[in-house]
Amino acid sequence: MRVLVIGSGGREHALAWAIHRSPGVEKVLIAPGNPGTGAHGVNVTIDPMDFEAIYDLCREEQLRLVAVGPENPLAAGIADFLTARGISVFGPMRAGAQLEASKSTAKDFMARHGIPHARYKVFERQEDAVEYVRSVPGPWVIKADGLAYGKGVTIASDMGEAVDAIGQMLSGKLHGQAGRRIVIEEFLEGIEATAMALCDGNTVFPLPMAKDHKRVFDGDKGPMTGGMGAYSPLPFVTPEMEKAIYRDILHKTFLGLKGDGVDYRGVIYAGLMLTADGPKVLEYNVRFGDPEAQCVLPRLAGDFAGLLLACAEGRLESFVSDKGIEVRDEAAVTVVLASPGYPGGYPKGLPIEGPAGPGDMHSGDVLVFHAGTGLDERGSLVTSGGRVLAVTALMPTLSQARSKAYGAIEQVTFPGVHYRKDIGGIEA
Ligand code: AMP
Ligand code: GLY
Repeated sequence: MRVLVIGSGGREHALAWAIHRSPGVEKVLIAPGNPGTGAHGVNVTIDPMDFEAIYDLCREEQLRLVAVGPENPLAAGIADFLTARGISVFGPMRAGAQLEASKSTAKDFMARHGIPHARYKVFERQEDAVEYVRSVPGPWVIKADGLAYGKGVTIASDMGEAVDAIGQMLSGKLHGQAGRRIVIEEFLEGIEATAMALCDGNTVFPLPMAKDHKRVFDGDKGPMTGGMGAYSPLPFVTPEMEKAIYRDILHKTFLGLKGDGVDYRGVIYAGLMLTADGPKVLEYNVRFGDPEAQCVLPRLAGDFAGLLLACAEGRLESFVSDKGIEVRDEAAVTVVLASPGYPGGYPKGLPIEGPAGPGDMHSGDVLVFHAGTGLDERGSLVTSGGRVLAVTALMPTLSQARSKAYGAIEQVTFPGVHYRKDIGGIEA
C-alpha cells in the first residue's frame, strides 16, 4: 500500500521510518517532511493545513492511508475532511482533537468521566482569575486554553508572577487567541510519565510507556521545551501501576470518548503525574508525542503500517488478535540535539557534521532522526529548527542504551549544539 505521513519533525521521521519498513508498504510520501524522511520515501512540498492539496495528492498517488503527525491539522479537521472523501486517516477528527486543542474541554471531560486529574477552574475574566489565585495556595499552574505549541503553561511560585501570567494570557499578549480563556489548576508533585494507546473507536490498546524530559537543562532545570529526550520502558513503573494507568486512565478515556459519541481513531496520549495519590492526567495529546515517538516506535516490532491502517479502519481488535502488538524487550533512549539558544531564539543554517541515516533497527543499533534540518544551496545538511536531531539507541538494558546513545552523539555535531546529559536517568 501507499501511505502519506503529514508533518516535518522528528516524530514524523520516526513514523516514516517505521511505516517504510512495514511489510506491504510500497511507497511512503511525506508532506512536507525533512531531509531525514527523504531516506524512506518521497517528500512532497505541501502545507499540512492545505487539505485540498493533500486530498489531490491522495487521489493522484492512490494513497491507502494518511497518518497525521502533528496536532494542528487534526484540530483544524483534516481527518473529517479526508474521511468524508473516502480516505482512511490515522488521527482523530475535530471532535476528538478537542482533547488537546482545548484544555478546558479536556478538563471537563476528565471530570465528567471520573479520570484522575488536578483540581481546576476555568476563567475568561482577569478579576475572577486573580481573586481565585488569591484564595488558594500556590504554586499556581496557569494554562492557556488553546494550542500554544507546547508553551502554554506557566507555573508561578509567587503571586506577582501568577497575576502577571493571568494578565498576559487573558489579554492575548502571551498566546494570542489561545490564551483568552485559561485554566488554573492545582500544582501536582510527582514523577511525570507518558502513557500512549492506540484507539480505533471500538477498542483501545496501550503502547509501551515512556518518559519525556521537558526542561532544557539537566536535572529538569530551565525553561520548558518541546522535549529534550525520552526513554522507554520506565523502571519506576511497576506492572501493577501500569495496569492501573491502563484501567483508570486510558481505558476510561476511551469509554468517555465512546460515551460522548466521539469516533476516535488514533493515539490517545496521556501526560501523567505519578503522585502519592496515584497517577493523574496533566494533559491529553491526540497524536504521538515528540520525542516519545522516536523512542517508542523503535521498540515496536511487526507490521506498524498495518497497525495504523487497522486503527484507521476500526479493526484494531482483529488485527491485534491476529498479529499482536509486539513490543521488544530492549530499552530505548532518545537524546535531542538542539540549536544554540533553543528554546529561545536560535540561528539557522549551521552546518551539521556526521549524522548517519537511520537504517534497520537491530539490537545495538542507533537511529538518527531528523527534526529541524534542511539542505543549503549546495545540498549540505544544515540546521533549520530548534530541535535539530534525535538520536535513539536500542539496547538490552536502559544503561546500555544510554551509553550507546551518548557515544553516538559524539559522532554528530554542529556549532553550539546542546543536549541534556541525563536522559535515561531513572527518574530524571
Ligand atoms: P501540559 O502542557 O499541560 O502538559 O503542561 C506542560 C508541563 O507543565 C507538564 O509537562 C508539567 O511539567 C507541567 N505541569 C502541567 N500541569 C501541571 C500540574 N498541575 N502540576 C505540576 N506541573 C504541571
Ligand atoms: N513530548 C510532549 C509532546 O509531544 O507534546
